[in-house]
Amino acid sequence: MILAIESSCDDSSVAIMKASDFSLVHYEKISQEKEHAKYGGVVPELAARLHTAALPAVILRAKEHFKSLKAIAVTNEPGLSVSLLPGIVAAKALATALNLPLISVNHLVGHIYSLFLSEQIKLPLGVLLVSGGHTMILDISESGVISVLGATSDDSFGESFDKSAKMLGLGYPGGPQIQNLALKGDDRAYDFSLPLKGTKRLEYSFSGLKNQVRLACLELENSRIPSKNSRIPSENSRIPSDNSRIPSKNSRIPSQQKANIAASFERVACLHIIDRLKLAFSSQKWARFGVVGGASANLRLRGMLESLCASYDCELLFAPLEYCSDNAVMIARAAVAKYHNKDFCQNLEMHPRSSLENLKII
Ligand code: KG4
Ligand code: ZN
Repeated sequence: MILAIESSCDDSSVAIMKASDFSLVHYEKISQEKEHAKYGGVVPELAARLHTAALPAVILRAKEHFKSLKAIAVTNEPGLSVSLLPGIVAAKALATALNLPLISVNHLVGHIYSLFLSEQIKLPLGVLLVSGGHTMILDISESGVISVLGATSDDSFGESFDKSAKMLGLGYPGGPQIQNLALKGDDRAYDFSLPLKGTKRLEYSFSGLKNQVRLACLELENSRIPSKNSRIPSENSRIPSDNSRIPSKNSRIPSQQKANIAASFERVACLHIIDRLKLAFSSQKWARFGVVGGASANLRLRGMLESLCASYDCELLFAPLEYCSDNAVMIARAAVAKYHNKDFCQNLEMHPRSSLENLKII
């Protein structure tokens, strides 16, 4: 059995997996979402303090399995340094106390393994990684080498949901809030422009769309409710960068308008993902494509990906909904692959900003 610890952002999580058949023996996750919600995003110092308080107790609740452990795994990259550190310290302490080897796991590789939690990994594979910190299109070769085909040049997909939700006065994390509110809205009410439309650049950009949401909110704040398809300034127009002009509890926007903005934003954000993916699909011959990361739980995105993959005769893989967001099960699964390769870590270091390029995942 391998015990894995995940603490790269705002979840303190521990899982134990059997290396022989990937069966899950133990799993617990303590989410800090409620504590960060009042600030509309993750506050690093608060996250560090909460991890330090939660991790010893979460680890000790797995104590009955300690005698069966063969290795301790931990996320050591990428992530918030103040969040990674308590996990790494705990893993080192446990490994020393139990005299076990350490396995370091890249958080993003963990997300990729969330597609294969209880089975062998299937390669080659195309991957869309959409989380709070990353938005990437990846190609993984038969031998497990990752190539980054495209990434975001500013905000990530999940981050654009979080920031738009904050402007609309919704809670944190913004992804589920926007998704739920969007169900009540008209997704054509706002004619937000599609980022990078008509270009051949294989990259993402969500900051312009976010600013269009900001302007729509400002316009409503000023009680000039725009009519259907009212002109929204293009993403290139000069936009004030002063967040403080939008109150975080935006109660002055009528609820139907909020729902319309949420739905219009979600539609265009997902269309942007698909629009750029079409470029990638036209040059890659993927037989299998997976979507991972916290934001891969978005149902509109899942529906659009299903149509895209069907049109390219490509099998679409999702992680189970409960394992899309950060969790230690995916870290344990990635660690099992390393355990079988005897890929242990002699000198475990933290790398808050690491790249996936050319990393080998098997
Ligand atoms: O992978 P994750 O749990 O943490 C990071 O590694 O960043 O992803 C969290 C992100 C947040 O930005 C959250 O708003 C977003 O995933 N998210 C969603 C949805 N559920 C979570 N975004 C869009 N739609 C959702 N249903
Ligand atoms: Zn993540």
